[in-house]
Amino acid sequence: MADEASHWQSFWQELWLRESAPPFHLPQVNPHLIRHFPQLRLAPGARVLVPLCGKSVDLGWLAAQGVEPVGVELSPQAAAAYFAEQNLTPQITRLGPFERYEAGGVVILCGDFFELQPTVAGPFDAIYDRAALIALPVGLRRAYAATLARLLRPGGVLLLVALDYPQAQMPGPPFALTPAQVAALYPDWPAHEWHRQDILAEEPRFAARGLTRLEEYVLQLRHP
Ligand SMILES: C[S@@+](CC[C@H](N)C(=O)[O-])C[C@H]1O[C@@H](n2cnc3c(N)ncnc32)[C@H](O)[C@@H]1O
Repeated sequence: MADEASHWQSFWQELWLRESAPPFHLPQVNPHLIRHFPQLRLAPGARVLVPLCGKSVDLGWLAAQGVEPVGVELSPQAAAAYFAEQNLTPQITRLGPFERYEAGGVVILCGDFFELQPTVAGPFDAIYDRAALIALPVGLRRAYAATLARLLRPGGVLLLVALDYPQAQMPGPPFALTPAQVAALYPDWPAHEWHRQDILAEEPRFAARGLTRLEEYVLQLRHP
């Protein structure tokens, strides 16, 4: 697993060095987050973890809703770009193995998500996973889910936005993920599917790569 993890760390770090706006980055707030956030029923000041956050503008939107978002991102380029694009100058401090950036109600911990311990930053009331679990190959998923489960308090909620497609038609990332695979990663976590739609027609770059089906879905899971 160590070799696979370091291979993918290099992949993501090189991608952010090459591209300032990678294709997975949405310039607008994710519509599924806007739609489903009220259903999470989070209290003001709730702590929301955003693993593998990139430079997602969802972070600032979460802060504007009155919760406390904490993103975790490997690439210093992505972390710095988030704040620069919001015209914010972050305070940068050290937090364990992470560089901690903070401004505008948003914290980004820059470093390896797998090294995040609840004693360093946790526990969280909610976790928002958009394009995080599906950014990881099958071999890293168990460790990711175990890390995430340690960080979410019992009774806390996980909002997962994921993609499913015939994996044989295209190599990841993003990697295809079925709800059954999610259930195997989070056994005993009650799950509800809040949305599912084939989005291939809206994603010509995936059709061009050979996909014949691309389903996006939103799951709510609760840490027992
Ligand atoms: C597909 S992108 C999704 C970004 C973001 N969630 C969004 O919706 O725009 C995956 C992100 O995970 C980051 N990443 C990959 N492995 C990581 C790790 N081990 N720890 C922290 N971040 C990681 C990558 O640098 C990349 O920005």
